Amino acid sequence: MNEPINPFPIYGYFGPDYFCNRAQETNAIISALKNGRNVTLYAPRRIGKTGLIHHVFHHLGKKWNCIYLDVQESFSFKDFANNLLEAALNAVSKNKTLLKQFQDWLLMLRPVMSANPHSGNLQLEIEFASENHQRATVKEALKLLDSFGPGVIALDEFQQITSWEVDTVSVEGWIRSEMQQLKNLRFIFSGSQYHLLSEMFTSAKRPFYASTQAASIGKIPAEDYTSYIRQHFKTNNLNIAQDEVNQILTWADGNTYNVQLLCNRVFSKTKKETTRELIDTSILEIYAENKLSYLALSNSMSKYQWQVLTAIALEGKVYQTTSKDFITRHKLGSSASVLRALEFLTSRELVYQYLEDTGKSYYEIYDIILMRWLQKK
Ligand SMILES: Nc1ncnc2c1ncn2[C@@H]1O[C@H](COP(=O)(O)OP(=O)(O)OP(=O)(O)O)[C@@H](O)[C@H]1O
Ligand SMILES: [Mg+2]
Repeated sequence: MNEPINPFPIYGYFGPDYFCNRAQETNAIISALKNGRNVTLYAPRRIGKTGLIHHVFHHLGKKWNCIYLDVQESFSFKDFANNLLEAALNAVSKNKTLLKQFQDWLLMLRPVMSANPHSGNLQLEIEFASENHQRATVKEALKLLDSFGPGVIALDEFQQITSWEVDTVSVEGWIRSEMQQLKNLRFIFSGSQYHLLSEMFTSAKRPFYASTQAASIGKIPAEDYTSYIRQHFKTNNLNIAQDEVNQILTWADGNTYNVQLLCNRVFSKTKKETTRELIDTSILEIYAENKLSYLALSNSMSKYQWQVLTAIALEGKVYQTTSKDFITRHKLGSSASVLRALEFLTSRELVYQYLEDTGKSYYEIYDIILMRWLQKK
């Protein structure tokens, strides 16, 4: 595993030394997989789902064939079939015997193969004669992978399948029935669009109903993130005091990506000791870089929708979006219009409905940087 240049990477997985906590979540998923249970992993955006999947892969060890697929990159069922075969090929490439078996089988399908010039990964493209041929091929691939021993296929951003131009329920039904015939292969379904995924996995009408164990991850506890951050500074002979770490965690609202993003900057600027001013400068840089895309965002919606978005940002958390208090404070008119705007903002993944342990729910802006930027304006 490569070392990151900065101890706070903002993409990719660089091994357990650069991964904070998540011990309990990792163990729960590993235990499920080892005991033959498939997992659905839910979490809001940028909280660390993809990182956790790679962390789980790391801890499963060499005996497991770990296949990762970002379904968001598959715009159709055909893409999905090709991408899955490609991911499987790359996953087994570490074992010569398995690679040979998998390649021999693949070659019969006459794929166009190439190496990605950037990552070095193998790429492939197969022209399937029909959708049936496609399904039969994936079925054979799964059977072959199953014969290789313990394995896991992580289908990240799985809700993407609902955008394919096929009958989604029939694809779900098909995957579910294929899944049930496998002895050694387990699945992780992961995604951030809670309503789409939960409908798929918890509605009694859908094929995946009751077929997986649900796992969800939230913000990393502040104490854990604090000691992790301070330790990384210390290892590099730098110091960051508790107050400054608090400043970072508060600004980032505990969202993993934002904590990493700000720590990455602050770390790179720190000579010996981090200061409040240095953190402020880093935050301003982040705003400046995002400003153009936020202005474009405001042009992509109605004035009213932008006004509701700003109102939510100013409040931070909104428990009752149709309360008189909230509506009058921000001059939002009728509760029906607020609800319509909210529906739009939620569907665009700009606003997210979070559920507290107590069962109470609240709305918050998804992108904390956007939220802080709107608060500052
Ligand atoms: N436990 C962790 N410790 C340190 N960094 C982490 C941790 N989890 C995730 N990260 C980092 O935080 C960033 C966001 O994580 P990740 O991409 O896994 O989130 P995600 O939930 O999959 O996001 P998205 O919804 O955009 O797919 C990445 O840069 C990743 O390296
Ligand atoms: Mg992800």
